[in-house]
Amino acid sequence: MRTTDAVWLAPGEPQEIQSDLVSRFQQEYGRAASGTWFAPGRANLNGEHIDFHAGRCLPMALAHGTYVAAAPRTDGQLRLRTLDASLDDGVTTLTPEQIGPDAAADDAHWSHYVSGVLWALRELGTTQPAFAVDPDFGADLLVVSTLPIGGGLSSSAALECASILAFLALGTPFGQDNPLQDLNAALTRQNRKDLAAACVRAEVEVVGAGTGGLDQTAAMRARPGKVLSLDCRDFSVAPLDIGCIQRGYRLIAVDTGEAHRLADGQFGDRRADAEAAARLLGFDRLRDALPEHPRKADVSHVLEEFDRLAEQLETLEGRSIAACRRRLRHALTEMVRSEKLHHLLSGEAYGVRHIASTVGDILTAGHMSMRDDAEVSFDVADLVVETALAQGAEGARLIGGGFGGSVLVLISPAAIPKLTAALERISRGIRLLDVAPSAAAHAL
Ligand code: GLA
Repeated sequence: MRTTDAVWLAPGEPQEIQSDLVSRFQQEYGRAASGTWFAPGRANLNGEHIDFHAGRCLPMALAHGTYVAAAPRTDGQLRLRTLDASLDDGVTTLTPEQIGPDAAADDAHWSHYVSGVLWALRELGTTQPAFAVDPDFGADLLVVSTLPIGGGLSSSAALECASILAFLALGTPFGQDNPLQDLNAALTRQNRKDLAAACVRAEVEVVGAGTGGLDQTAAMRARPGKVLSLDCRDFSVAPLDIGCIQRGYRLIAVDTGEAHRLADGQFGDRRADAEAAARLLGFDRLRDALPEHPRKADVSHVLEEFDRLAEQLETLEGRSIAACRRRLRHALTEMVRSEKLHHLLSGEAYGVRHIASTVGDILTAGHMSMRDDAEVSFDVADLVVETALAQGAEGARLIGGGFGGSVLVLISPAAIPKLTAALERISRGIRLLDVAPSAAAHAL
């Protein structure tokens, strides 16, 4: 069989990436970086398009992620450059007036993710003195990522989370008390939760993307070797052992090469359909339409209730009733799948083979729901799922917001060479990433 190494995207060696970045920083800004911070991308076993409905998600951090080298400034400015060829347009300078929601430009420039978190950290600092950013604080930043940009693996959240750690380290009392790597041990779980929430504010209020918190939570709070079972009702997390899935099996993220954009209309449109359905049912958050331990029958009851309430209507808040019903069905069945996975991974009662095939079936059912009900899939993703299943994968699904991005595949190692060869035949743009559940954001 011919070699397929070219399709694998390696996470790289962190120390090497850091030392390259630091010397590039010196060249770019003519001074030394004060430090380097990293935040991972994520994969998600289940729980797409339900974080903003208070559902449960099951993400894990990748070894791939975004590195930020930075040094502080005292004029309130941000100067930013990325080394990613697809985004690099030289150094962007933002003055203090250009940082924050009021200053958010209409363009979708990546720098808003960074300036957004500086604004959000300042906001957090108004209630938590340790996080209070010095009023004159600014920074020079250089960014490099080992994630495919727009690949549905949360490159944006990785950028936000690495940047907020840099700002925390360089511009706040917390950073002064805990220099460089001391930051890692000093950050409590509550600190990480608060910082993730600040990154969500940046993305919602400054960038204008309707993110629900899944990505930032994974990047800031993931644990190595674990799936993070995230209950979006209160953002509590339970780290669950993934060993039972990975013993004898591999999780692979297949980047389809079709980049997605979350800040554009389609993602928000899907969300709005489901929220209209929730309002018709009388719920602020859809998770509350189901009991604590939901089953399929509970989904049917809610759908029947929806049909009864919608019977006399021609549209729902001007939206198609049939479309709203499909979004509702996706959200509810996705919630049931998440709860099932949570219980499966929490228990020790099953054999490895049984777990892999059950998890695989849940993945594939999730994909069908993304395709037919959420309607966020696209041709290449469907083809990747079909191909993976035909090559003997236990299961496969589109992850992330959709309309581009990546497919997660659960497969036995023996089947991987056939899979990579088959994927190469679909498209040259496809890249594979090994999903090795890794650590959350940290200082290097
Ligand atoms: C994007 C959003 C997340 C989540 C996913 C879909 O990644 O940022 O909050 O809604 O889409 O699950």
